[in-house]
Amino acid sequence: MRNEQENTKALIDKLESLHTLSRAEFAEILACDDDYLFERARCAAHKVYGKSIFMRGLIEFTNYCKNNCYYCGLRAENKKARRYRLTKEQILECCKTGYPLGFRTFVLQGGEDVYYTDDILADIVSEIKAAYPDCAVTLSVGERSYESYERLFRAGADRYLLRHETANDAHYRTLHPDAMSSFNRKQCLRDLKKIGYQVGCGFMVGTPGQTPEHIIDDLFFIKELQPHMAGIGPFIPHSDTPFRDKTAGDVRITLNILAILRLMQPNLLIPATTALATLDAQGREQGILAGANVVMPNLSPVDVRTKYLLYDHKMCTGDEAAEYAAGMRNRIQRIGYEVAVSRGDCIDISSHTINPSPGQCHPA
Ligand code: 5AD
Ligand code: SF4
Repeated sequence: MRNEQENTKALIDKLESLHTLSRAEFAEILACDDDYLFERARCAAHKVYGKSIFMRGLIEFTNYCKNNCYYCGLRAENKKARRYRLTKEQILECCKTGYPLGFRTFVLQGGEDVYYTDDILADIVSEIKAAYPDCAVTLSVGERSYESYERLFRAGADRYLLRHETANDAHYRTLHPDAMSSFNRKQCLRDLKKIGYQVGCGFMVGTPGQTPEHIIDDLFFIKELQPHMAGIGPFIPHSDTPFRDKTAGDVRITLNILAILRLMQPNLLIPATTALATLDAQGREQGILAGANVVMPNLSPVDVRTKYLLYDHKMCTGDEAAEYAAGMRNRIQRIGYEVAVSRGDCIDISSHTINPSPGQCHPA
């Protein structure tokens, strides 16, 4: 037993210094139950970002979607979903609420809603940038053409979140109808990066049929893409989807993945996701203590929050809600971190070494 533990620690040190491992070694760390992993991940985050946690205001501006992902409550075929769209004025109102609360990034997230043409979206983005020039605008509106991504970038969008969902093509096909492909999704991510966006990919943990091998494919995909952000959260079933009877993802494995990603790419922006906070009352804190450094409270108008239901029981009140930013700050301070009032851009570490040998850092 002792030898096994020593072996796992040695692998964690190896990951910290080399930023990669073999598939078999990744499999061992993925399944491990050793808090040393989190300790090293906190240390790696600390060396790049100190004790700062970045806050993003999430504006869920439309829950219409033309797609039919089998796991998601917003899928077009879910006739029970109560659909809404926000106007430009409502979106600007959200930013107005968020700015004095300390938000310097606004994330416009929605389903793939054809109503929002390039003209309409570009207009919204440029108005936000004109009104809040010191803020970053992040878009998360799914797969679009290269030209559309370019147009929105020119309008002022700084970042784009598009979870790749799974890097394994066969697994992707079990989660989505034939109209969608992992090939196209990965291409979109490469296009976004090429255009100049700060790019976020990501995936769910514990989707039906997912194996450790699939997760290792995700780790290698992220290693190759070198995104600026990666959003990882547990799968949670939604009662009006084909996956209604499936089991939710595992919190511990999710935390292990956050820590592995922190050690693989120390400057990555990693959110402690709402899905994690939904499955575990301490999920947000646990995520940060496993190496996450971003939180994304909900800035949407209160009356639409309960309608953006990706999964059952999605949290949108209490500290998940932007107007309780003070509550979020307190919880984060209690675990020894500070919420930064800043855009929270990804720090470029390519030009200098930030990784002294394991053991030189003593985080709280
Ligand atoms: N459980 C957890 N996460 C989900 N998402 C969609 N449906 C679910 C679910 N049932 C995630 C997807 C998507 C992001 C916006 O939310 O990864 O990309
Ligand atoms: Fe639409 Fe995104 Fe839900 Fe898929 S995951 S159905 S693309 S909102």
